[in-house]
Amino acid sequence: MRSVSLRRAVLLLVGAAFSKRGLAEDIPDFNWTSITPSRDLKYHECYNGYRCARLQVPLDWTEPDNASSSWAVIGIATLPAVVPSTDPSFGGTVLINPGGPGGAGTEMVLLFGKYLQGILDGEKHYEILGFDPRGIGRTTPSASCYTDDLNRLVDAVQQGGMPLIGSGDVGLNLHYQAAVGFGQLCGQQNLGRGNILAHMSTASVARDMLEIVERVDSSRNSGRGNSTHKAQLQYFGVSYGTYLGNTFATMFPDRVGRMVLDSVADAGNFSSGSWRKNLDDTEAVADYFYQTCFDAGASCPLRQGQDQSAANVRKLVDKFIRSLETNPVPAVQGGRVRLLTSGGGLCTRLAPTHVPLDCPWCSEATFGVLCGDSAATAAQRVRSVSWAREEARILLTCVDWQFAPKDAFSGPFESSVPLLILSNRYDPATPLANAYALSRQHRGSAVVVQESYGHATVLTSTSNCTAGIIREYFSSGKLPANGTSSAANCAASIPFKSCPGLLE
Ligand SMILES: *[C@@H]1O[C@H](CO)[C@@H](O)[C@H](O)[C@H]1NC(C)=O
Ligand SMILES: *[C@@H]1O[C@H](CO)[C@@H](O)[C@H](O)[C@H]1NC(C)=O
Ligand SMILES: *[C@@H]1O[C@H](CO)[C@@H](O)[C@H](O)[C@H]1NC(C)=O
Ligand SMILES: *[C@@H]1O[C@H](CO)[C@@H](O)[C@H](O)[C@H]1NC(C)=O
Ligand SMILES: *[C@@H]1O[C@H](CO)[C@@H](O)[C@H](O)[C@H]1NC(C)=O
Ligand SMILES: *[C@@H]1O[C@H](CO)[C@@H](O)[C@H](O)[C@H]1NC(C)=O
Repeated sequence: MRSVSLRRAVLLLVGAAFSKRGLAEDIPDFNWTSITPSRDLKYHECYNGYRCARLQVPLDWTEPDNASSSWAVIGIATLPAVVPSTDPSFGGTVLINPGGPGGAGTEMVLLFGKYLQGILDGEKHYEILGFDPRGIGRTTPSASCYTDDLNRLVDAVQQGGMPLIGSGDVGLNLHYQAAVGFGQLCGQQNLGRGNILAHMSTASVARDMLEIVERVDSSRNSGRGNSTHKAQLQYFGVSYGTYLGNTFATMFPDRVGRMVLDSVADAGNFSSGSWRKNLDDTEAVADYFYQTCFDAGASCPLRQGQDQSAANVRKLVDKFIRSLETNPVPAVQGGRVRLLTSGGGLCTRLAPTHVPLDCPWCSEATFGVLCGDSAATAAQRVRSVSWAREEARILLTCVDWQFAPKDAFSGPFESSVPLLILSNRYDPATPLANAYALSRQHRGSAVVVQESYGHATVLTSTSNCTAGIIREYFSSGKLPANGTSSAANCAASIPFKSCPGLLE
């Protein structure tokens, strides 16, 4: 009867994961269409203490001066510094990106802006600016492939019921053909000029960031008339946001002031559409989870009385998860029946920034970036189906993508900009080796290894050590030795205890 109690335990964990999504619901509403887009940065009060703007940029940066070209309008939300910008301790503006691709910076600033400001602020005080990259969130036009939400939902429900991608030829073929159909749908719905999907490369987003930096600078320095002055980016990017930062540093090395990249996506792998390295440390994180569970004794519902070691716990859970493929478990929740058919994501859940607010087309936006960046190497995408199941499904979606942005950039990634690169010792989605590889691409850079497990150092645990390093780097540019180890304030525990100060 051990499988019955394991079933109950898994349902408990799933329930906990779902309830965490409440986070974004605390955010009050703001009517973005009440802001008229402009080419200068014009802020409006929003969300109780934030400032919002809609910045107009050329849709096609390869033809920015063509009078008949279309526009994209970037949604921006900014948490002001705690001092006025005229104060000597004002440290400037820090742009942030939450990853994805598809994550909305406006949401990241609302959810994490004050927390990040608390890490950065010391002798200097910073303004935190979140923007939604092209096609995403509050930025228009939206990367949408469906003309109505019901159709999107029907497709998702239908495809959610297909056999798993790794379950044999039938599953693979169904997912493959669904991906071909999705590519065709997006192609049909996004014809002609003004089509955002043809302009969603990460290189275009990097150019948008430069535009934001220049508009921020001219709004602050207007009338000072110094034409030799070149505004510089200060940036904090997480996960896919590291790829965006890497791209910016490579394209505009003389425009980087400070850049912190946390949890590094391998640029070569990302731009070729094969995420080979992503999962290199995933099993180590899973092992840590099982060890924590074993150490917790009876408080961990997955641990059974007779288990002698973490490996025993893991073996049973692995077996149970495999059995879900042929023996799914029903979970009644929110007036619906959900079927648990695999354990994918059970132990590798990413940061809550991956659950954006109010954005039904978010997954289309993700694929707009992902497929667009790797457009040149469609053949490689097909080969990537041999990798782990979830990633295989994601990458397969690009298989018949019909847009190849003109300015997609695939490297070489390099500069002599000294970056501060952060990684947890074990990260399920972006292994530490990626951080070291990035440090070799940008001369003078240094990696700090936080001794914790999970995705994104700053979202996994508070760390006085990491925070001190970040603060020092922002204020003086000073980097610690490459490979510096940084203790975390908290270790994971079961039952879950939140780390004091994290996201307050
Ligand atoms: C948002 O603002 C626009 C423009 O001012 C207005 O037309 C629209 O009715 C507003 N929407 C809501 C929901 O208040
Ligand atoms: C401007 O854009 C239009 C529409 O994309 C194109 O037909 C035209 O050739 C472009 N003009 C120049 C000068 O590039
Ligand atoms: C113009 O800006 C540059 C770079 O920030 C600075 O070195 C220079 O002193 C400034 N010149 C004047 C006249 O303000
Ligand atoms: C992806 O990462 C693997 C493992 O490091 C490497 O062998 C491969 O060359 C990378 N592929 C690309 C296209 O960068
Ligand atoms: C940082 O250290 C790692 C591991 O020793 C090494 O592989 C990497 O090349 C180093 N990076 C730099 C910029 O020295
Ligand atoms: C981190 O710093 C805070 C504030 O200075 C202090 O209260 C706390 O004890 C420190 N925590 C650790 C683990 O060093």
